[in-house]
Amino acid sequence: MSSDEEHHKLSNEEIGEKQAEEGLEISSPQSSTPAELVDAINLVFGKQTHNRAIHAKGIVLEGRFLPGPSAATLSKAPHFQKVAVPVTVRFSDFAGIPTVSDTDALANPRGLAVKFHLPDGSETDLVIHSFNGFPAATTDEFRQLLIAIGSSGPGVATPTPADTYLATHPVAKSFLESQQPPPVSYATLTYFGVNSFKFTNAQEQVSFGRYRVEPQEGNQFLAAEEIEKAAPDYLADEIRQRLARAPIRLDLRVQISEPGDKIDDPSTAWPETRRLVDIGVIEITKVVPDSEAAERALLFLPAQLPEGIEPADPMIQFRNAAYIISYGRRHQ
Ligand code: HEM
Repeated sequence: MSSDEEHHKLSNEEIGEKQAEEGLEISSPQSSTPAELVDAINLVFGKQTHNRAIHAKGIVLEGRFLPGPSAATLSKAPHFQKVAVPVTVRFSDFAGIPTVSDTDALANPRGLAVKFHLPDGSETDLVIHSFNGFPAATTDEFRQLLIAIGSSGPGVATPTPADTYLATHPVAKSFLESQQPPPVSYATLTYFGVNSFKFTNAQEQVSFGRYRVEPQEGNQFLAAEEIEKAAPDYLADEIRQRLARAPIRLDLRVQISEPGDKIDDPSTAWPETRRLVDIGVIEITKVVPDSEAAERALLFLPAQLPEGIEPADPMIQFRNAAYIISYGRRHQ
């Protein structure tokens, strides 16, 4: 059995028990199923038979990951040791709409998925987005939000279900209202893991942390007049032009929790004073020749993890199961 299948078999109750043993704060077990979450996403963006339920528009690239000297202090994971490994990267817009314009509000937050090809032939993935938070603390709450939005189309009497939901859920309201302008590039944005992982190093020392990927070029956004002129697919064109000039370098870091930080609530950012451990550099060198075929074949799984990294937030296994269901639906 692969480690992914093992994770898959853990119920939310078992994850809850594991966390309780480790003395972590946990929320109540989830009652929605992963299929119900994909249904709720489909309610917002329509049923998909070819594209991802969400983050449907993207571009696939290749490069390598170069671990830095601090990585092994955090985890014994193979890609945290000294040897560089190949990576497959997918940048994406948020919506489950493959034709969404890169300047549309529904393109935010942007997504970053990285597949690390490990020396033993296995893979591990990172699936993160360009907002330091999430509109819901739990999967149940996320489903309620999606159903409220999906039931609030044109012609629905006001206050719509979405109006009512947002009036009583300030975290979701602020997520929707505080998105950034369109970026200059997929490579000029910081991406946040938001779900927490447990890291164990070779000395069996344990830390809890959240991933963060920061562009070496810094965060850069389009000015108002540039947004007006930007083509609907400018981000894919831009990344091709950028790579023709030089590789893209993104710093992978882990933000380490302190007592009292919520491990199982991705809607709440931890204070910026938390320690950041440098893990290494994601170096992207080229766009794959047939990005559309590559993205259809690719499945990035947030709980596909090597020894030394485990999910600490139950949303991670839940997401994993939902991504597999979405993959099945887009290959009918
Ligand atoms: C309960 C919470 C969540 C659910 C149910 C969910 C569901 C999904 C689904 C169904 C897909 C499509 C997978 C596929 O067809 O391959 C997807 C993709 C994605 N999600 Fe989530 N998601 C959740 C939380 C998150 C969070 C917290 C983040 C960011 C930190 C995130 C970032 C992404 C990204 C970047 C992709 C695109 C991956 C790719 O390029 O293949 N999601 N999500």
